[in-house]
Amino acid sequence: MSQRIDGHPYPMIQALEQYRREGQTIGFVPTMGCLHRGHQALIEASRNDGNLTVVSVFVNPAQFGPNEDFDKYPRDNDRDYELAAAAGGDIVWYPDVADLYPADAQTSVRPGALADKLCGISRPQFFPGICTVVLKLFNLVRPHQAYFGEKDYQQLAIIRRMVADFYLEIDVVGCQTVRETDGLAMSSRNRYLTEADRDTALTLVRTIEAARRAFAEGERNAAALKTHLTKAWPKDLELDYLDFREPDFLEEEHQLKAETRLFLGAWLRGIRLIDNAAIG
Ligand code: PAF
Repeated sequence: MSQRIDGHPYPMIQALEQYRREGQTIGFVPTMGCLHRGHQALIEASRNDGNLTVVSVFVNPAQFGPNEDFDKYPRDNDRDYELAAAAGGDIVWYPDVADLYPADAQTSVRPGALADKLCGISRPQFFPGICTVVLKLFNLVRPHQAYFGEKDYQQLAIIRRMVADFYLEIDVVGCQTVRETDGLAMSSRNRYLTEADRDTALTLVRTIEAARRAFAEGERNAAALKTHLTKAWPKDLELDYLDFREPDFLEEEHQLKAETRLFLGAWLRGIRLIDNAAIG
């Protein structure tokens, strides 16, 4: 039976204290709601690791830019509860903005160089906003393990860095990207896509497949492959970045290796699309 907690964190903290006394480990899946199978896979991973699993649902204003979709970001708390419960979430918590950003709050987290590249260039508020809310959530939930999807690989790398830099005793677990049957990476924003958009949106996964084929056929020159892939990019999909990066510090890679990741960011009629994968 899943427990739903709306608003203030204290009932959740009290419930977790009891579980901790009983020797339970706590797994945490922070989300912005609009749950899909990708989120459910994170909840299942936490359950499979034997954790009492907390899911938070909070659309974090601090990670949206002034012209982004904060106001129209899809919210459906009842449906999210059903999906979180079906995947095995034990506590589903819906903090309000005033619970996480009280009027007298002043302090925020400023991540380092990992946040200045890829998504961080066109969305400078994004990773500081994410780190700030994730640190608040971590301190309230105090999980043993926290689960994040590799679809947001840069986010995962930055959170790992933050956990190390602030000596947090949390094991950050990265989980594979879950895809729709046509290959599109699952995202809450996919629901904005029309039938016609969808084919264009598939450019991202098709570009990853093309890079993988080229690598398998012996291509090792990142610049040459980047030029080739960029030339094939459709005009109606605004390319933000197409970069080959090594997996730890996300530095640019010149000589391609199996673990090199291709990172893609784009805007389709203002809808944010990202994807990434290792090319080997
Ligand atoms: O990945 C997300 O959904 C968000 O960035 C997160 C980690 C819940 C922070 O708001």
